[in-house]
Amino acid sequence: MLSVTYVSVADPLIGADDIEAILASARRNNERDKLTGALAYNGYNFLQLLEGPDEKVEACLAIIRADPRHSGMVEVRRRTVETRDFGDWAMLYDARFEWQRDSIVRLGANGRIDAEDEKMFANFIALGRGQGAG
Ligand SMILES: Cc1cc2nc3c(=O)[nH]c(=O)nc-3n(C[C@H](O)[C@H](O)[C@H](O)COP(=O)(O)O)c2cc1C
Repeated sequence: MLSVTYVSVADPLIGADDIEAILASARRNNERDKLTGALAYNGYNFLQLLEGPDEKVEACLAIIRADPRHSGMVEVRRRTVETRDFGDWAMLYDARFEWQRDSIVRLGANGRIDAEDEKMFANFIALGRGQGAG
């Protein structure tokens, strides 16, 4: 299986409705394609991890890359995996940052998320909350 994590620049005009629409598509399509993952949005950028069969991940990434709701996708991690970080979620997301961070940390603490993936998500979310610079 392939696991790819990317960061992108969100369109500044997107709102909660857009996020809901993205999640609805993602959950429907990902379930069909045996893809799982997590999405974080910090008000400026997206961080998304997608994992599953190699060709399904690549095809989904190509579709996401062309989506006008964001731009400038840059892959920050790509690796072959035996086990999934987010096996129970077609696309894990929580609109409230607090919960989003907690879910990642809780899952990480259970040893279910690869340590580096967990750190990326936790730090990305913390930076969006203005807590990064100390
Ligand atoms: C940040 C971001 C993440 C997305 N993640 C997914 C995803 O995981 N799976 C997916 O099928 N579509 C995802 N999309 C939506 C796709 O770009 C595309 O709109 C959708 O797959 C079209 O499918 P539909 O016609 O069934 O709605 C994402 C879009 C954005 C902007």
